[in-house]
Amino acid sequence: MEKRELELNVNGKVLTISVPPQKTLLEVLREDLGLTGTKEGCSEGECGVCTVLLDGLPVRSCLLLAVDVRGRKITTIEGLAQGDNLHPLQTAFVEHGAIQCGFCTPGMILSAKALLDQNPSPSEEEIRVGLSGNLCRCTGYIKIFKAVQAASLR
Ligand code: FES
Ligand code: FES
Repeated sequence: MEKRELELNVNGKVLTISVPPQKTLLEVLREDLGLTGTKEGCSEGECGVCTVLLDGLPVRSCLLLAVDVRGRKITTIEGLAQGDNLHPLQTAFVEHGAIQCGFCTPGMILSAKALLDQNPSPSEEEIRVGLSGNLCRCTGYIKIFKAVQAASLR
């Protein structure tokens, strides 16, 4: 299979890899870079579990080809903690019981990060809208919204 060399900027590191041009960003993150915090659900752009940040904005990595994001700044859930210190959103999710199976959590937290970066004091309605592209089958969402609100107050 034909492969193409490309440079990806992931979590502040520039990595050179060789991958088939039809590979999605999600596949490259999980299979080639071992960043399995990004989850695969529907693979059709519906569920949001594959969400990563591209130049700070949430995108569905199952819908993007890795070759199309060369040189862009990609942030995955692995890029949020600073050493042993969790990001305030991660801490708030733990403290508020906003995680059950955890499958939606990485994408949910990254969408929340993008929201708080743009709007540091969102209303509950703005949080609901900001996270509306991320589905959760377990929590009923209320604890997630409370966690994001708590993180916004830190
Ligand atoms: S796996 Fe990408 S949106 Fe569902
Ligand atoms: S915690 Fe299970 S899908 Fe959200």
